[in-house]
Amino acid sequence: MAEQKATNVTWHAHTVTKAERWQGSGHKAAVLWFTGLSASGKSTVANAVDSLLNKMGKRTIVLDGDNIRMGLNKNLTFSAEDRAENIRRIGEVSKLFVSAGVISITAFISPYKADRDKVRALLEPGEFIEVFMDTSLELCEQRDPKGLYKKARAGLHKGMTGIDDPYEAPDKPELVLDGNSNKSVEELAQEVVAYLEKQGVLSV
Ligand code: ADX
Repeated sequence: MAEQKATNVTWHAHTVTKAERWQGSGHKAAVLWFTGLSASGKSTVANAVDSLLNKMGKRTIVLDGDNIRMGLNKNLTFSAEDRAENIRRIGEVSKLFVSAGVISITAFISPYKADRDKVRALLEPGEFIEVFMDTSLELCEQRDPKGLYKKARAGLHKGMTGIDDPYEAPDKPELVLDGNSNKSVEELAQEVVAYLEKQGVLSV
């Protein structure tokens, strides 16, 4: 847990309740937490889910590892400590979006179970939906859109997840998307939307 450094701060309760925000959105809010290796398809499917939900008139936001690391989290490296801080901040940001009645769709490798579980604990039961993008390392390496796996194999890029840094797959994710199958991005995104519908997230 991050250390509380500020003293003399007091928590102020908010006036508008979560249920009232849901009324405004016309649906409940939750976090779709995609986890998986780099190039597993997290961002691609997250964006496809975002498109589907937007067509349905839902309020959403996509928070994506590479993009967030160019802004809010630009001061973080890929050390275990900084990855933990990356995930902690995005957990807090997602919690803010959930308070605002927005479905937050995150796409971070988030390789450590403990870090993901801390985000789960931050939210109410049912609000944290862990989506495991289950794509083999072989396939991710074949794709290698940024050439990082190749560099890592050549010893030119240290601490690459899946090569010389760990990835801890979730034990009990709410959803597993089979990234090794022939399913299209659209089909995988539909699976996520179907889950949200089944859980009642998409209505008030
Ligand atoms: S996380 O581990 O802290 O959750 P995050 O999702 O923000 O990672 O960023 C992952 C992206 O950073 C990868 O898709 C890749 O483009 C890039 N990257 C650069 N260095 C590394 C590395 N050592 N391990 C994994 N991804 C890296």
